[in-house]
Amino acid sequence: MDFTRQLEAYRARVERGLAELVPAANVRPVRLHEAMRYSLQAGGKRLRPVLVLAAADACGARQDALPAAVALECLHTYSLVHDDLPCMDNDDLRRGRPTAHRQFDEATALLAGDALLTLAFQLLARHYAATPVICTALTRELADAAGSEQLIGGQMEDLLAEKNPRTTATDLVFIHRNKTAAIISASLAAGGICGGAGDHQLGLLRDAGRHLGLAFQIVDDLLDITADTATLGKTAGKDARAGKFTYVTLHGLEEARRQAARQTESAQAAMRALPDGAPFLTRLAAEMLARNN
Ligand code: IPE
Ligand code: IPE
Ligand code: MG
Ligand code: MG
Ligand code: MG
Repeated sequence: MDFTRQLEAYRARVERGLAELVPAANVRPVRLHEAMRYSLQAGGKRLRPVLVLAAADACGARQDALPAAVALECLHTYSLVHDDLPCMDNDDLRRGRPTAHRQFDEATALLAGDALLTLAFQLLARHYAATPVICTALTRELADAAGSEQLIGGQMEDLLAEKNPRTTATDLVFIHRNKTAAIISASLAAGGICGGAGDHQLGLLRDAGRHLGLAFQIVDDLLDITADTATLGKTAGKDARAGKFTYVTLHGLEEARRQAARQTESAQAAMRALPDGAPFLTRLAAEMLARNN
């Protein structure tokens, strides 16, 4: 199958998984489940769940990776819902629609985020119960990546950096590696775990994810400046207005582009060392570098 058709096939599986595994919008409390589905259904790129499915296939897919893929999309979407809140980035637009707190209200958005995070772990506990070693490994991978030393730690320092003129390039690497690359790395590792990857392969997947994730956030910083709101589906030019510390403010457009390309190459080098050379993942990394939203 060529790359584009394979990507569409993975995305279609993710959409079906989301439809089946997330509580229906008519489950009580309806407002909460509507808000969870509203944020999930808004149509993101589905990068993280696609990484789960593709990494599982690259490693031989011994376990159905779809529940883990859906768990990663729930976790990611929770982080977006909370990231957009007025007390965080205060954004009005996400995935081309009003943010959850705009469409519903702040408390509902907060609770929908809480519920999406919890649902991620519920899905792992429910769907991998028959294989406890895999269940524990997935739980640990996601919990480590989502916790105070990674995703939340990165988000904390992202906010602190807005007010700290002494923030350094090293601090920015910490922020990007943790707020963004950690979940991308965990996505590839989760796929590897479902695929039966050994320690060496898991190491390659995590390494690939760290580089891909850093490249991904550098491109996100670039797009905030170079893309328009309609294409992005979120408000363009927001980082500068909010005084965010980004790769572009620190290094300028050209150097940020060079660093994103370098990180993508490092990710691809780790991917190529996987058993089948991971042609799909390698191409996906290139597509993420060239993306326009
Ligand atoms: C947005 O992630 C947040 C970042 C980590 C930059 P995506 O760009 O993957 O957002 P969606 O899922 O496609 O909406
Ligand atoms: C990504 O950073 C934050 C998350 C991990 C949720 P941004 O704050 O730059 O993401 P966008 O630009 O709002 O999507
Ligand atoms: Mg943010
Ligand atoms: Mg934001
Ligand atoms: Mg951004």
